[in-house]
Parts: sequence; structure tokens; C-alpha cells
Amino acid sequence: LDNGLLKTPPMGWMAWERFRCDIDCANDPENCIREDLFRNMADRLVEDGWKELGYEYVIIDDCWMSRLRDKQGRLQPDPIRFPGGIAKLAKYMHDRGLKLGIYADMGTYTCMHYPGTTLDKIELDAQTFANWSVDYLKFDGCYSNPVEQMLGYPLMSKALNATGRPIAYSCSWPAYLGGLPPNVNYTLLGDICHLWRNYDDIQDSWDSMQGIVDWYFNNQDDLQPAAGPGRWNDPDMLIIGNFGLSMDQARSQMALWAIMAAPLIMSNDLRKLDNGARAILQNKVAIAINQDSMGIQGRRLLQAYDVFSGSTVKGLNATTEFTVSINPSGVVMWYLYQSD
Ligand code: DGJ
Repeated sequence: LDNGLLKTPPMGWMAWERFRCDIDCANDPENCIREDLFRNMADRLVEDGWKELGYEYVIIDDCWMSRLRDKQGRLQPDPIRFPGGIAKLAKYMHDRGLKLGIYADMGTYTCMHYPGTTLDKIELDAQTFANWSVDYLKFDGCYSNPVEQMLGYPLMSKALNATGRPIAYSCSWPAYLGGLPPNVNYTLLGDICHLWRNYDDIQDSWDSMQGIVDWYFNNQDDLQPAAGPGRWNDPDMLIIGNFGLSMDQARSQMALWAIMAAPLIMSNDLRKLDNGARAILQNKVAIAINQDSMGIQGRRLLQAYDVFSGSTVKGLNATTEFTVSINPSGVVMWYLYQSD
């Protein structure tokens, strides 16, 4: 969506993969979906160097809502878990130079059975999010059919625009249609959404990550041309720092997400990240590759900079043969540039 937002892929943090729909604050106060969790993550983003690297969105996923809309029909947060309300949480983010994302679902219910945004509620919900000063909307697609989605996703785009507030718009629509043409019209998506989920949810495992990567590269002829400034394919969250990936596998995810110009949206516990995971996620060259404006073409290979080891290999040219050793499920990522 060409309205000046997300000229490069969004970066930030999202609750879902790590914290799911944990609403048991009585027994699991540290990890349940409530305002403290998002404030904690915001504090970490600011204090641990993430924000200055570009990680700026803190995104609420499913399970933030009350089971019922209010008397005016508006969505409202669960009063026990979000006592301050969403507007206050947005202010907390803005006071720290961060942005707040929120989640809604085009359909009768969210995937976890909270109130959905049916067609008649789209304008009201867009206005509610704008009134709260939300900066990003993830619009899921559970409990709707393709006809409703065809109407609803463009309508939400219009409704967000009509609020006058710049709100980044993430559409899960293609993931509900198999992710490929002719069912998915990527020209239309690029016109109405800033990013979109094409495929399955990521889980905390190498198998899941590899399945996603295979799917994206197998279908790159359809997917790759759809991406560009303001319109990104979204292979889902970074799971680095959780339990399922080795260090080599974590480097692979970072390298591949950087190359795919994917959103760098982590879903991990920033309060408990080890130094290895932190170093990978904060790697400046990988981030720079991801955040490149993608205009540069056809350069000769003269030097290769190893993104993760930080060493420089000199004197390569276009026909140089070289050997690298790669750990099982690991990666070697080189940044090639021409020296003067
Ligand atoms: C399906 C989405 O693809 C996930 O990322 C997450 O938002 C869940 N729904 C929440 O119910």
C-alpha cells in the first residue's frame, strides 16, 4: 500500500508465537497476555538496544479482547488484563519512541473465539483503533468465507485510510486462500495492504521454519515480484531466542528473513534472551540487508563480508571459485560489495 508507510519491512515484536493465548494471569502472571507483558517488552526494546536498530513495533495478537463488545458495539480490551485500556498502552509506546500494533479478525470470531470484525463492524473498529492511536493492525481471517474476505480486506483498508491516522495494515487474507494465484491477487494486495501473511503459522521448530522457507522459495516466481517498498510478503515471526532452533538454525532464520525482505518481527521473551540469540537478532549487517531499499543492481563481486563472523574475504571476482563449510542446518551469509 503506497501511502508512505513501511517503505522497508517492519521490525518489532509480536506476542503470538511465544505467548499464544495464555490468559491465566492468576497462575502465570509473567507470561499471560496483559498490558504488563507489552510494557515489559517495550522497556526491553528501549533499554537493550533494539529500538535504535529499528525494532519499533510492539504488536498485540489474539486474546486481548473482552468477550463482549461495549454498549456502543465497540471492541474493548479485557478489563482485568488491560485495566489501563489500549489508548494508555499506545501512549506508553509513543512516549518511548515505539509504536503499538493490535490484532483483529475479519470474520465472526477471532481464531481464539473473541469478537470478530464482521463487515458491518469494519468502519467502527477502524475508528476505534485510530481513536486509541494504534499504529499497526494485523487483520486475521478466521471464521469468514472467501466472499466476505474479498469485501472485508479492501473495506478495512479504506476505513483505516478514512480515519486519517497512519496505520500499517497487515493482511492475513492470502494465507486463508492458499497463498498463490489465481486465488490470490497480489496486485490487489499490494494496493490495499502493507504486508500480508501468505502461508502457515510458524511454530517453534526447525521443521516448521524449513517448511515455510521451502514454500517461499518454491513459489518465488509468484511471490517475489509482489514485494517492494510498502508491500511485503510475511513468512511470519522470528522465533530466534526460543526453544526450537540451534544457534546455526537461528542464524539461518535471520539470514533467510533478511534476504527475503521479510518483516523482522520477533516473538520471543526479550526478558530472558541469551547473548547468542541477541547477537544474531541485533546483527547490523543482516538488518541492513533486510532494510535495503532494493534499488541496486548488477555489481561485480570483489569482496565478501561474512555477516556473522565479521571477517572480510578479499580479492574475489565474478569467476572466483571458493569453498565454504556449512554446519548441518547452518548458514554462511556473505555480503558482496565492490571496493574502491
Ligand atoms: C492465526 C494467525 O496466523 C496467527 O499468527 C495468530 O494471529 C493466530 N491466528 C491467533 O489466533
